[in-house]
Amino acid sequence: MTYEEACEKLGRYGQLHVLKYYEELAEEQKEALLAQIDATDFSVLSTKEAEVEKEVGRGTIMPLSAMELDEIEARREEFTEIGLRAIREGKVGAVLLAGGMGTRLGSDDPKGMYDIGLTKPVYIFERIIYNTMEVVEAAGKWIPFFIMTSDKNHEATVKFFQEHNYFGYDKDSICFFRQEMAPASDYNGKVYMEEKGKMATSPNGNGGWFISMQRSDAGRKMKEAGIQWLNVFAVDNVLQRIADPCFIGAVIATDNASGSKVVRKAAPDEKVGVMCLEDGRPSIIEYYELTEELMEAKNEKGEPAYNFGVILNYLFRVSDLEMILNNKLPLHVVEKKIPYLDEDGDLVRPQEPNGYKYEQLVLDMVHELSSSLPYEVVREKEFAPIKNKTGIDSVESARKLLQKNGVPL
Ligand code: UTP
Repeated sequence: MTYEEACEKLGRYGQLHVLKYYEELAEEQKEALLAQIDATDFSVLSTKEAEVEKEVGRGTIMPLSAMELDEIEARREEFTEIGLRAIREGKVGAVLLAGGMGTRLGSDDPKGMYDIGLTKPVYIFERIIYNTMEVVEAAGKWIPFFIMTSDKNHEATVKFFQEHNYFGYDKDSICFFRQEMAPASDYNGKVYMEEKGKMATSPNGNGGWFISMQRSDAGRKMKEAGIQWLNVFAVDNVLQRIADPCFIGAVIATDNASGSKVVRKAAPDEKVGVMCLEDGRPSIIEYYELTEELMEAKNEKGEPAYNFGVILNYLFRVSDLEMILNNKLPLHVVEKKIPYLDEDGDLVRPQEPNGYKYEQLVLDMVHELSSSLPYEVVREKEFAPIKNKTGIDSVESARKLLQKNGVPL
């Protein structure tokens, strides 16, 4: 992109300040900035669009029954057999979403590098690989394992896996790919600069995983391997079961386009997104969108009708994902602390949120598909998320749960 083309593009979006320091930059910095401008989608910065999303609100919400523990237990053998067969036939891949910034945990390293051990190092990535290995051993087959990183943590993540010899996983079955970045802005939608020759950007949310995968080598590998199902999960749940054969079998046996692992809510107002039907399609409604009326609604068994929260562990049928590839997911505008250059060109690291990041979320993909099976799992056995250092969903709470499940730390 030439300087003139950059001016034209920035002008269209009211972002000409990005070139404020252009004349001061060295030749390669100029080129890097022009390339960044070329690659950036500035349309996300239009706060108007974000407001429209807020105004549109939700469709008609109805309950969506979950497959509960008793039914799963009764059919465990049948489902497990179906799941293991799909894994042995190479139809199942795992996708670890590890592109996030993990700001709440407060470590500069990728979240998966966090050591939660007490008497020895136990890394989050290590726990995830070990959990996957249990299924690999049961199936007698390596599960293709894709890891999504971002520009902010790619090198560190790859190096960490290399240094730890992939924690015993088959190196050739692991494939890293990068997610895309989105510009970060002040409250008026003006992109921040993090250096004189670089706009502030952040990973564009975990909803971009399939597009990013398709655009990278990982997409080619997935196609060549004939993978039909992808189990997508967050980096921070150290107890989760990955490529769980019973879950996979249940989704296949019930002919759903996707499956969502869910836990029974601890309290009606617990801060988790719950599975429901929205305008007849599967959807996830955030806790803050759950009205009093929905919170109190009961199903035919007399139990709360919106009682199952998602834990960011989904199974998607690849052919269905391909059909929705070009559908635009809603944009979520999140308030964050964004380091930026002030008027004098000095770097400021704010202590309080000072602007917006723009993200797409994997949970919105569920709504794009025709069907989803909410599949209940036991919270104490499969849900130990690490978001914070202490308190709720923290290193402390996850350690307790790991120990309860007999994991030596
Ligand atoms: P979170 O929503 O907890 O975000 O991510 P985060 O960035 O890890 O943490 P905070 O909010 O800054 O403290 C849930 C999952 O989605 C992944 C994360 O790595 C985690 O596995 N994720 C999130 C991405 O892969 N990319 C993103 O852009 C955002």
